[in-house]
Amino acid sequence: MAECNDVDVQIVTDLSEVHWNGIAQLYADEEWFMFPKEMVELKTKFSWSHAVVAVNREGRIVGLLTWSEAPTASVHYVSTYLVASGYRGHGIGARMWDQMMKRVTPGRILGIDADPDMVEKYRSREFPYRSEHGAYRISFSTESALVACKKALGDADENVTSQIQIVAMSDDLIEQMIAYDQGLCGRNRETFWREYLKMDCVATKVALRQGKVVGFCCRAPFHQETKRLGPLFADSFEIGVSLLSHMCDFTGRLAAIRPQRDECPFLQFLLQHTDCKLDSAANRSFSRKCPDEDRVD
Ligand SMILES: CC(C)(COP(=O)(O)OP(=O)(O)OC[C@H]1O[C@@H](n2cnc3c(N)ncnc32)[C@H](O)[C@@H]1OP(=O)(O)O)[C@@H](O)C(=O)NCCC(=O)NCCS
Repeated sequence: MAECNDVDVQIVTDLSEVHWNGIAQLYADEEWFMFPKEMVELKTKFSWSHAVVAVNREGRIVGLLTWSEAPTASVHYVSTYLVASGYRGHGIGARMWDQMMKRVTPGRILGIDADPDMVEKYRSREFPYRSEHGAYRISFSTESALVACKKALGDADENVTSQIQIVAMSDDLIEQMIAYDQGLCGRNRETFWREYLKMDCVATKVALRQGKVVGFCCRAPFHQETKRLGPLFADSFEIGVSLLSHMCDFTGRLAAIRPQRDECPFLQFLLQHTDCKLDSAANRSFSRKCPDEDRVD
């Protein structure tokens, strides 16, 4: 535990590899599970991934603010705002925030997904525009999902399910998968995908029908026995269920973030047929009025 009176920190805006390693340590120490070590490494690969850190006298990272300015995204999201627990309430967060605001590209819409106790604070300042949609955090055991998937696929029309083939991602499918993703998201995320799919810790399955990509799904590390699921994109409910069943080949839980407006049959399926836990999670706000978009980066 850090000493509370040690607020002698330096704010660093030009990050080196040492800082990025320290960031992974901060996430681990603060049990901030969204970003295990591998995902921090991923952030270093993209020129649009930015961070400001606070470093104490011993060189330890005690504060972090990250944001993303992906060129094809219409909204730039602030992704992590975190000060080590022993250092909070001494203005470190505010100092990092000032540095970020000096660096964000002028004129762009900024977005933030906030915890309930922070949302009004953000909205009273730089993020006055509330989104109609927040996000849910869902999680379910692979055991319950496997049973549900088997039943759903057993009940489905065999003519439909027999045409679906689920395969591991391979080099010859990447281009088709990226085009499929672009068709759904409306923007080209090739740079992201090429780095993401290279990571050993990420499992990706692709659904094919007559050789054509009709869905895909990724699974990444999260925390202990829980892995993060997503995105899961599919042309039909049956394809989604087939993909999910292939993601349940371990004992543990899968966690995912769903937009709150989502009333898709897939979410209903998880809620009704697995031991799915649903938490109301982030409240989304914007710096300027904008058409809402799903967060996909
Ligand atoms: C949120 C957090 C990063 C602020 O860092 P900090 O160094 O403690 O903040 P400061 O001392 O500079 O800020 C003083 C006050 O301004 C608030 N504040 C800080 N940055 C702010 C911002 N950008 N907009 C609005 N309010 C802000 C702080 O919450 C704090 O409020 P309080 O007095 O009601 O507690 C820190 O409290 C933290 O790590 N919290 C846990 C993680 C978390 O909840 N992160 C936010 C997720 S949405």
